[in-house]
Amino acid sequence: MTQPYSGRLAIIAGGIGGLGSIIAQRLQANGARLILLYAPFEADRVKPTLERVFTSPDPERVHALQCDITAEVNVNEIFSKVIDAICSDERNPSFPSILVNAAGYVSVQPLEDTTANEAMKNFLPNLLGPFITSNAFFKLYRKHALTLSSSEKPPPGRIISIASQAAHVALEGHGAYCASKAGLLGLTRCQASEWGSHGITSNTISPTVTWTPLAAKAWADEGRKNKHLSEIPTGRFAVPEEIAAAVEFLCRDESGMINGSDLRVDGGFTIR
Ligand SMILES: NC(=O)c1ccc[n+]([C@@H]2O[C@H](COP(=O)([O-])OP(=O)(O)OC[C@H]3O[C@@H](n4cnc5c(N)ncnc54)[C@H](OP(=O)(O)O)[C@@H]3O)[C@@H](O)[C@H]2O)c1
Repeated sequence: MTQPYSGRLAIIAGGIGGLGSIIAQRLQANGARLILLYAPFEADRVKPTLERVFTSPDPERVHALQCDITAEVNVNEIFSKVIDAICSDERNPSFPSILVNAAGYVSVQPLEDTTANEAMKNFLPNLLGPFITSNAFFKLYRKHALTLSSSEKPPPGRIISIASQAAHVALEGHGAYCASKAGLLGLTRCQASEWGSHGITSNTISPTVTWTPLAAKAWADEGRKNKHLSEIPTGRFAVPEEIAAAVEFLCRDESGMINGSDLRVDGGFTIR
């Protein structure tokens, strides 16, 4: 049976992170070929993560590429040369139709103690990174769409960026992080508006706490963690598989009218 994403390539920024790797696993299980982008400082975690998530990853189907998502020249080079060449490989062609922005950084301290330097550590991977990767993805998608004959339709383009509950409410000590994630919602609305007519939808997902290295850092204080848990109507944090399921839902062909939306996967935390 043909899988929904066979012949399609999914690019995942933050692809070896706690959420990114499980999102990648889900898309691959549904037939997608993968490009996992990782930051230079994560290089020593790539092999163990791939082995843990994919058991014995097929190098033809799972490519891990080092890429600084906050550096435009580096991103443009990786998308327009390396990823383009992988997609155009005649032995195993694939269409670059999915981008997931799942890299991120969080720091926790009161606003008045947050230096501009610390704020930038949040803004760069959480907002500027998706800005740059999405632009590069748009150009790559359009380039491949233009190579098709007039009778062929490209697979639908999908950009899914992981925002946060912090995009919607003020989380104590998360000022710079909240600002970066609220900005990501604004960016996504503009992508949806400008690129919908080019066959690409853009949406965000706003998870509550989902236990990953990032969450363990942000919620290290046991008292704060338990207080937050008590404020979530479903009474628990999310698991990465629930975020991956929401991403995969937005990637589907039948989700093509969902554009510029935010899907909250927060157990109802932000409704009150
Ligand atoms: N987990 C949650 O509770 C939660 C809730 C809401 C939203 N989110 C969002 O979901 C996304 C994924 O988070 P996660 O929980 O999977 O965290 P994670 O496990 O820390 O994964 C994030 C990945 O991004 C990488 N990264 C950090 N700075 C980067 C940079 N400058 N350039 C490129 N990559 C960089 C991290 O590398 P290092 O590990 O080396 O830093 C890590 O591999 C983030 O945008 C996060 O804000 C997470």
